[in-house]
Amino acid sequence: MTELPSVLPGPGLPGRVRIYEVGARDGLQNEKSIIDVDTKVEFINQLIATGLPIVEATSFVHPKWVPQLADAAEVIKRLPLDGPVPLPVLVPNERGLDRALAAGCGHIAVFASATETFANKNLNSTYADQFDTFAPVVARALAAGVDARGYLSMCFGDPWEGQVPISNVVAAGVRLLDMGVTELSLGDTIGTGTPGHVQALVAGFEAAGVSADRLAMHFHDTYGQALANTYAALQSGITTFDASAGGLGGCPYAKSATGNLATEDLVWMLNGVGIEHGVDLNALVKTSVWMADKLGRTSPSAVVRALAADV
Ligand code: HMG
Ligand code: MG
Repeated sequence: MTELPSVLPGPGLPGRVRIYEVGARDGLQNEKSIIDVDTKVEFINQLIATGLPIVEATSFVHPKWVPQLADAAEVIKRLPLDGPVPLPVLVPNERGLDRALAAGCGHIAVFASATETFANKNLNSTYADQFDTFAPVVARALAAGVDARGYLSMCFGDPWEGQVPISNVVAAGVRLLDMGVTELSLGDTIGTGTPGHVQALVAGFEAAGVSADRLAMHFHDTYGQALANTYAALQSGITTFDASAGGLGGCPYAKSATGNLATEDLVWMLNGVGIEHGVDLNALVKTSVWMADKLGRTSPSAVVRALAADV
């Protein structure tokens, strides 16, 4: 059989994108079963071997808040931190940064909320205080030569507050960028965004002087909109997309957050529109089938299910 999908480039799209893999963190943080250290290390090493350019590894958050990632230090100790693929970790405060630095991490990510309620639920903080918490974290990381990414959650809607005005999202994002984060990932935490909203948000940032190359998109696929939103973001000039192998994921502190955009679904579409990404799709599907087996269920990714028998 000839190779599928057929490659027909879409108009006005970038030639290459960077896939920021979050399955080992955003995925596993939300699984009911706790995966052991050996399996996590094997999972991350397999993800690296598929050609993914960056693989988020774990979180140095409070172990009582996210018990699934309480073994962060043990996992990090066994990963190739000096290899060519960055392995970022989430940190919620200076205590988390201390732990990440002690473990030898070279890449961290802080995570703020565009809304008051989610700052409270996710960080036990107020909206205003979260910036005071993160400013010294980012400053100390950068001073130590550690790269710092900024996540912003609830950019397209909040399960408690409803619609979130674009101006609020831009204001919160600019505060993170002003701290010095090298990239801002805009989270559709509960997956309620739609394509016009994505393009309006990118335009809102551009009007505030933030170009698309400083932004990443982080779509959850709760309402099946993640790929449509990705295409809209590509048209707006976004070239970094967060995705999780096999569509693992969610957020334990956000009502109705389900899995991220599946990396395989993203890769299939990028292949079809002729955008380079460097990832071996078959190897990735094999990894996700293996991981789904460890979790005792099938992957929610349509592409993994379609290809599972062939890899
Ligand atoms: P808190 O209970 O308010 O913490 O939690 P605290 O500052 O009051 O400290 C209480 C105790 O916890 C102290 O110990 C601290 O040392 C300890 P004691 O003095 O009582 O012995 N502590 C820690 N221990 C280990 N590691 C730490 C740490 N910090 C304090 N880092 C906190 C506040 C922020 C820590 C907590 O709320 C937390 O860990 N939250 C994380 C929640 C989380 O991980 N959510 C998921 C990630 S975000 C996400 O998924 C969204 C994203 O994917 C984008 C999107 O989809 O939108 C990124
Ligand atoms: Mg997420």
